[in-house]
Amino acid sequence: MRIILGITGGIAAYKSAELARLLANQGHRVRCILTEAGARFITPLTLTSLTGEPCYGANPDQGEWRASPSIEHIELARWADLVAVAPATANILGKAANGLASDLLSTVLLATRAPVLWAPAMNTGMWEHPAVQANMARLRSFGHAVVDPGEGGLACGEEGSGKLADVASIAEAIQAHGTPKLPILRGQRVLITAGPTREDLDPVRTLTNRSTGAMGIELARAFRDAGARVQLVLGGDLPAPWGVETVRVRSAQQMLEACEARWAESDGLLAAAAVADQRPGTPSSEKVKKGDGAETLVLVRTPDILARLSAARRPDQWVIGFAAESEKHLEHASAKLKKKGLDAVLVNDVQDGRAFGAQANTLTPVTAQGPHPPMGPLSKDQLARAVAQWWAHQLELRPD
Ligand code: CTP
Repeated sequence: MRIILGITGGIAAYKSAELARLLANQGHRVRCILTEAGARFITPLTLTSLTGEPCYGANPDQGEWRASPSIEHIELARWADLVAVAPATANILGKAANGLASDLLSTVLLATRAPVLWAPAMNTGMWEHPAVQANMARLRSFGHAVVDPGEGGLACGEEGSGKLADVASIAEAIQAHGTPKLPILRGQRVLITAGPTREDLDPVRTLTNRSTGAMGIELARAFRDAGARVQLVLGGDLPAPWGVETVRVRSAQQMLEACEARWAESDGLLAAAAVADQRPGTPSSEKVKKGDGAETLVLVRTPDILARLSAARRPDQWVIGFAAESEKHLEHASAKLKKKGLDAVLVNDVQDGRAFGAQANTLTPVTAQGPHPPMGPLSKDQLARAVAQWWAHQLELRPD
């Protein structure tokens, strides 16, 4: 993506250097525009060194600087796939909300047709002021995205909201807002299960599996980026992705309840979780003591979340399951497709420990038409994007 990163005058401007570097490391081209006040906190040299691209805008000693004053704002506005402003002061928010263009950054913001994203940072009183909030509402009404500031100790000594959101969240929001949408997935409400479940034997022992949840989290990101409204029901310890409503669960029963509560309002389900098939028959509230000789653990089946939601689905809802198979992949997948009444099964080859925790992965879709060409080997984020694109294409082919 070609990103313009506007940096305005606030102490959080030092964090924009880290943001510029992170985005450049993710493979984006990043050109920074400094406002005059921004250039008092951070130098163009820092930013060009980190991004390998020119830095535009103000030089505090010489005022506004432009290489070719007449058209540079238009060229930059056209060059960008996305314009992000981080940190954004009350001043730039006010200008952009009211169509004012008095320097390079505000002019680019007015001229661009690219998506715009704001990461505000300011004193709590300023952030909460009705004028700033009215400006934020106006900017949102233009379709601009906002990464809300967090709470914490501010440089001015106050405690409260106004702290620049963390750099990783801003980078993720840029990815989400700047990715071209897949029209058929835009606005779809997609429920995704991800991660392992944990079934407690007693307060210290647990039955679980080797899934990390990484693939399900990447699917949540990919469907979010494609324009879907994603709800993620997540087991395990990985952090939740930005911009996805996430419910944390532990056991299969909790995962089922969280899914059932959301299923009626969803358009589709991706069941990527590695749900424990069994749980201890009689979990103990006290730590179980070891005994002499052989010991037997009695297990009972957990609910099959995918099968339950599929059985309760309306005709307009779609359901995709996953299968981790170590042999006869396609046969088992076809059987699962029929048995659980699914639209597709994405089959993962887990022989020799592949898939769980692996870097590159392959998924083969199986539908009622039979197997489709495999996707991969790809990294999990690329594979998740391939799945979103493949499924968007399948939805387009569906009869109404
Ligand atoms: N699944 C589920 N709830 C369960 C078990 C599985 O929702 N209690 C979902 C998984 O998220 C996945 C699919 O069902 O989408 C996997 O199907 P499953 O029949 O459990 O696959 P395996 O565990 O491989 O089955 P088997 O042991 O029969 O091979």
